[in-house]
Amino acid sequence: MEKILVTGGAGFIGSHTVVALQESGYEVVIADNLSNSDEMVVSQIKKITKIDPVFEKIDLTCTKDTVRLFEVHKPDAVIHFASYKAVGESVQKPLSYYFNNITSLLNVLDGMRHVGCERIIFSSSCTVYGIPDELPVTEKFPRKKACSPYGNTKKISEDILADAVYAAFHNDRELPLKAVSLRYFNPTGAHPSALIGELPLGVPNNLMPYITQTAAGIRPVLNVFGNDYNTPDGTCIRDYIHVCDLAEAHVLALKYNKVSSFVEMFNIGTGRGYSVLEVIKSFEKMSGVHLNYEFAPRRRGDVEKIWSSPAKAEELLNWKAYRSLDDMTETAWKWQLAVLSA
Ligand code: WQD
Repeated sequence: MEKILVTGGAGFIGSHTVVALQESGYEVVIADNLSNSDEMVVSQIKKITKIDPVFEKIDLTCTKDTVRLFEVHKPDAVIHFASYKAVGESVQKPLSYYFNNITSLLNVLDGMRHVGCERIIFSSSCTVYGIPDELPVTEKFPRKKACSPYGNTKKISEDILADAVYAAFHNDRELPLKAVSLRYFNPTGAHPSALIGELPLGVPNNLMPYITQTAAGIRPVLNVFGNDYNTPDGTCIRDYIHVCDLAEAHVLALKYNKVSSFVEMFNIGTGRGYSVLEVIKSFEKMSGVHLNYEFAPRRRGDVEKIWSSPAKAEELLNWKAYRSLDDMTETAWKWQLAVLSA
């Protein structure tokens, strides 16, 4: 049984990936500092899979603790989610974002080398593409200047991985580094059991938690940012992807075991864009709740429309998203109701 270290495994995407890994027969070690998650998530995972993941509360910016983590657990591969992820906050606290997201990656790579661990799956983002020149976005598109320090940490991390993989391939063939970078589009939804889901701290920035919190009466109204875009209904278009589909992409990426001199990048999206109004309509249909929303000015920094071409992941990872927008809104609402009644 292969042992996978999942950093940030108590977080939103991390926890769903731990479930998918356990269900696929992997042994999982979660490393999380609980800075944006709750240890209760670990017991919720066990309720779904009936398997206890090993949990280590650890700050990966501490080199000594990270090396010890690797020495104790000697994982066969790493899935590295742990990072700060709030775009707006990163503009306020850039140094903290650079320190946390870059130091933890460097420490993880150091720990891997220490114990001869060769495989890493990195959690990247469609934000590296900036405003795309054409659609759909493929992995061949150039990366643009990042719109936020958060986005820049993802770009820099991809560059660090690229240099490390190149060096390992050319100088250190007995310990090659195999790195896959998954560029997520807009992850949303929750596990159908409603035992795990997204737990945003404070006022949510993202659309789906804002919708469910408004429907639940926690927020008075959803502001739809802009209805004068050059799209069929005037609202922005995104490639929303169900978090369980996203989780399965990580399991398949682990099996992609090619030794090469570069990092393999994959778009992880559905290949289909939906507007904000289409998301609202799906939510109202699946929840039976009328949503209080109003049009508001455009949000600074928003891209008008973006969606992926997931063709490369389909071809090389044998992965495909098969859950619908209705599945996303339905499970997100079920999760919100579970949080309310907890
Ligand atoms: C989606 C749409 C908003 C809130 C973020 C990150 C990005 C990447 C994906 C990880 C937009 C509209 C939102 C609201 C609204 N993640 N909206 N009212 O901005 O596409 O991307 O997730 O790396 O880096 O920035 O996601 O969910 O914030 O917005 O109208 O209250 O919903 O304008 O069109 P975004 P989002």
